[in-house]
Amino acid sequence: MSDNQVRGVILAGGSGTRLFPLTKVTNKHLLPVGQKPMIFHPIEKMVDAGIEDIMVITGTNHMGDVVGLLGSGKDYNCRFTYRVQDEAGGIAQALDLAKDFCMGHKFVVILGDNIFEESLVPFIEAFKLQNRGARLLLKDVHDPERYGVATLEGKKIVKIVEKPVKPESSMAVTGIYMLDTLAFEFIKNCKPSGRGELEISDVNDAYVKAGLCEYDTFESWWTDAGTHESLKVANELVMGANPT
Ligand code: G1P
Repeated sequence: MSDNQVRGVILAGGSGTRLFPLTKVTNKHLLPVGQKPMIFHPIEKMVDAGIEDIMVITGTNHMGDVVGLLGSGKDYNCRFTYRVQDEAGGIAQALDLAKDFCMGHKFVVILGDNIFEESLVPFIEAFKLQNRGARLLLKDVHDPERYGVATLEGKKIVKIVEKPVKPESSMAVTGIYMLDTLAFEFIKNCKPSGRGELEISDVNDAYVKAGLCEYDTFESWWTDAGTHESLKVANELVMGANPT
């Protein structure tokens, strides 16, 4: 293992309230998508892109089940490190738990409910060529108000806003973030949002304001699977029943 390898972080916490009662006694990321638990999909994308060291972060309630499912990583050609998020305080707060794990590395964060078709290889290759900064993956969607939304001017992102009431574009910021350790400096400056969370969009917007945010766009399908409707869509897409 070379020491400057890109590392992976999977965020699999949260209470899954939008999927209640499916999530009453289990973690959202353990629910089936296609023939596998949801969390297998982002893990496979990382492993296929050559990432060997992956930190999985989840809450206290279901860490036992997550470890029981994933184990050391030897069955998946990677090594897992686990960290517990004691209380749900947002994506940026969860990511902060990966600080020591990520020090000295570039890293890829995937929200455990993000399901997509394309390989991450070309995006990570482009990210590796960047001296520093972030690289985000955007997707043109019909319901941008559900997501972090990027405002574009020419080929540049000029602003990222979390769940805007009046989105300035239809470009959602997907839950796949290629970051460097500057992210942890930006997290320190984050203040809780209206929903009481430290928002990853504020971290991404700090990269934008520093002139250090690049992006690529998914051309093929992408969805989250955090609501009953999007979980159904994710299953259809993975099973090939409704390709876009
Ligand atoms: C989160 C992020 C949002 C992003 C989305 C992608 O939203 O906050 O910026 O666009 O994931 O899945 P949440 O799932 O917390 O509503």
